[in-house]
Amino acid sequence: MRDRAAELLEWYDVHARVMPWRVGPADRAAGVMPDPYGVWLSEVMLQQTTVAAVRDYWRKFMGLWPTIGDLAQAEDADVMAAWAGLGYYARARNLLKCARAVVADHGGVFPRDHATLLTLPGIGPYTASAVAAIAFDAPETVLDGNVERVMSRLYDLHDPLPGSKPQLMALAEAITPKLRAGDYAQAVMDLGATICTPKNPACGICPWRDGCAARVAGTAAELPKKTPKKKVPTRLGIAYVARRSDGAWLLETRPEKGLLGGMLGWPGSDWSDAPVAAPPLDAQWQRLDATARHTFTHFHLELTIMTARVDPKAAPDRGMFIDKTTFSPSSLPTVMRKVFDLANATLRHD
Ligand code: ADE
Repeated sequence: MRDRAAELLEWYDVHARVMPWRVGPADRAAGVMPDPYGVWLSEVMLQQTTVAAVRDYWRKFMGLWPTIGDLAQAEDADVMAAWAGLGYYARARNLLKCARAVVADHGGVFPRDHATLLTLPGIGPYTASAVAAIAFDAPETVLDGNVERVMSRLYDLHDPLPGSKPQLMALAEAITPKLRAGDYAQAVMDLGATICTPKNPACGICPWRDGCAARVAGTAAELPKKTPKKKVPTRLGIAYVARRSDGAWLLETRPEKGLLGGMLGWPGSDWSDAPVAAPPLDAQWQRLDATARHTFTHFHLELTIMTARVDPKAAPDRGMFIDKTTFSPSSLPTVMRKVFDLANATLRHD
């Protein structure tokens, strides 16, 4: 039988992608291991987000909070602001909870084994496997979207995702090596990202081209099959953007529970078929001639934007005025940033 792991590791030794959180195969062979904190941070950021988008955020976080102890002591609002734009904000809330749990319950040292990692906030089976393998060389199998695609092709499995995940996991486990588990985990992901791509896979230069069942059958490009997703509904909402004559903006911290929990945003309505909300203060509200559109996992959102210029003495029913020198639009989640960009054109204050 061919040694699949050896074939892939040989390829990885030459073609490993360079990433700021990664220790490459040559350094690992020389005994260098990555900082588990940096590995965990990268894996949490990489869930549902591309490597290209994560690079700068990872560097920013490591600069602001170089150790898990630093992150554990950070202010919630600072971490949420630094995460703004990455999306899926529950990840940021859990990031802080996890850092605090590692400090409180594990003496600030990342646990090494899968079972203990799983007990930490925000760490599910995928992240536990990725951290155990990449940071500690534990022979765990990682199964992300890339690996699912690679395995479905290698074995020409036509059963649709997500139902086929357990089968794909079993196939992936069967070829996970005991040695160099960290390199191997990253190698399968790199293979999926650079060679075994969703469209036009580069089968001719693939280290697994010999004996890849889908390549033989000519079905690689149609795999993996997926159960069709339900259509996402559209919800409506209203966002109120008030600007004081001294330039301050009226913002609020969203409740911890729920979408964009803990993030800064414009006061507004619920998001539904028929949104209702009283304005956050009495003013001459004007409806902006533009709509902010954003797509979340389960729905599209269309926000009507109301703007007003208000008096320095204005006392809002909700939210707080943030001084124009303190307010940074980059600390807003993307949908709120879109509202800002549209409203700012009319409320500009020079
Ligand atoms: N995607 C998620 N984690 C990754 C990693 N460690 N290397 C490459 N791609 C990834």
